[in-house]
Amino acid sequence: MAAIKSTIPTRRFDAVIIGAGGSGMRASLQLAEAGLNVAVLSKVFPTRSHTVAAQGGIGASLGNMSEDNWYWHMFDTVKGGDYLGDQDAIEFMCREAPKVVYELEHFGMPFDRNADGTIYQRPFGGHTANFGEKPVQRACAAADRTGHALLHTLYQRNVRARTQFFVEWMAIDLIRDQDGDILGVVALEMETGEVMILQAKTTLFATGGAGRIFAASTNAFINTGDGMGMAARAGLPLQDMEFWQFHPTGVAGAGVLITEGVRGEGGILINSQGERFMERYAPTLKDLAPRDFVSRSMDQEIKEGRGCGPNKDHVLLDLRHIGAETIMKRLPSILEIGHKFANVDATKEPIPVVPTIHYQMGGIPTNIHGQVVAPKNGSSEIVNGMYAIGECACVSVHGANRLGTNSLLDLVVFGRAAGNHIVATHLKNREHKPLPADAADVAMSRLSKLETSNGSERVQDVANAIRKTMQYHCGVFRTDELLQEGVKEIMVLDERRKHVSFKDKSKVFNTARVEALELDNLIETAKATIISAAARKESRGAHAHRDYEKRDDDNWMKHTLWYSEGNRLDYKPVNTKPLTVETFKPKARTF
Ligand code: FUM
Repeated sequence: MAAIKSTIPTRRFDAVIIGAGGSGMRASLQLAEAGLNVAVLSKVFPTRSHTVAAQGGIGASLGNMSEDNWYWHMFDTVKGGDYLGDQDAIEFMCREAPKVVYELEHFGMPFDRNADGTIYQRPFGGHTANFGEKPVQRACAAADRTGHALLHTLYQRNVRARTQFFVEWMAIDLIRDQDGDILGVVALEMETGEVMILQAKTTLFATGGAGRIFAASTNAFINTGDGMGMAARAGLPLQDMEFWQFHPTGVAGAGVLITEGVRGEGGILINSQGERFMERYAPTLKDLAPRDFVSRSMDQEIKEGRGCGPNKDHVLLDLRHIGAETIMKRLPSILEIGHKFANVDATKEPIPVVPTIHYQMGGIPTNIHGQVVAPKNGSSEIVNGMYAIGECACVSVHGANRLGTNSLLDLVVFGRAAGNHIVATHLKNREHKPLPADAADVAMSRLSKLETSNGSERVQDVANAIRKTMQYHCGVFRTDELLQEGVKEIMVLDERRKHVSFKDKSKVFNTARVEALELDNLIETAKATIISAAARKESRGAHAHRDYEKRDDDNWMKHTLWYSEGNRLDYKPVNTKPLTVETFKPKARTF
């Protein structure tokens, strides 16, 4: 227990990175190796960042198992995202993929190997050869611990490059001057309660997603939408927040992720009649159709009474036929998760699974260099001094539904690209801009309100109510009625969170302060999500709307922008023009 100190020391860096997951550490490595003075803040020890939970693989068309190329990968990503992704960014990511994976290999990342020494690749949902003809093995895997291997590799490289880590520090708010430029952040050291201004020529957000706005989530408890909350409070828009991915296979009742790599290795989904039902919904790709498609099919099976268990509320993931030897070699963590969270031996019994919130496709709008862009006077303008990468950003490569393995790829491609761009522009941007006198005001008034409030609300009650509302009103299938009711409930919760306080002010631990600060970020993200969702009158990717069952390209092939002030919505066009190749024109999405 420690009190918040009132004097605010300032430290200056060339770049401050918020978040030490895959994207933050890929960017920091680029900066530190170029000799920049870079600080990385993280709420947790870097190797505990949520990237560690990524299991199945990183997508790249290496062609180690059979013929593949980046153009097929690009097609799958555009189609998987239901044509909402920007095709320039998608081309960039898919072309860069083999390069960044080989770079990781050379950094020492322990990928699984084929007999000839090449990187092992497994099939994953929506990845195909020859424009949808048949599944292709594109997921470069380190058993079922690919994120873990990636994060440790990047951490070690950063230690070698002398990146400065601020461990268990939470960024509270951005510092933005009158020109709209970003000059750093105000941050809190969680152990001591010390508040510090971290002044920087470049501030890079790599804060991850906000999966904890939902009750059933594969996400870590740290994923509270901190980047989105800070950006929204600084007046920046959030893009495409209505699109949230349900991963088909979260352990029923526990939410823990069971990698799509299980189905990549041959696992199948079955209903209470023992039927492999995905054959009916997706005759070509079957269990390896994109996630939005599989999740809706599972939901349909459950709604039509073919769910399993006493409450008929889940389906089963059967991997018994894969054989114990392959399971232990390729999917060791799944065996452990089955034991610990479902009480089954996956070599002998199927695992009960349900679609579970996993990933946000939307985020802070950026260009392909990771620079934050916001509309100004009818066109898009770069926000000076600010970058965003990874799940908190929307570049937009995932459109309305992300393909499995493209998340790790996104982290590394855009982490590297942002790092390179910052290094290249650094020479032109030598001086720190002076800090405004009110630099820390927003952050400090939030902190002091927490210390003085006599409100009657408890942080956990409001946070849990947000999760319950989002889960019920903004789930796999949405309706006008559900969404409109949900908006009302979230607005009531927005009022309630303004009245949170600590019961006994003499016994407040900083962990409680952190949870209260996180609550402000949860609510901004929840508002962005449900208000954007209530406005979109079509079904596209992960936004499945019962009242508007079809995709409506004439009216809705556009990105949503939500602003916190007044909950205002705006829209901007999708960039359908790739960098060098022909546009993929929207087609019906069958698998
Ligand atoms: O299923 C998985 O292993 C998750 C991968 C991803 O979200 O890309």
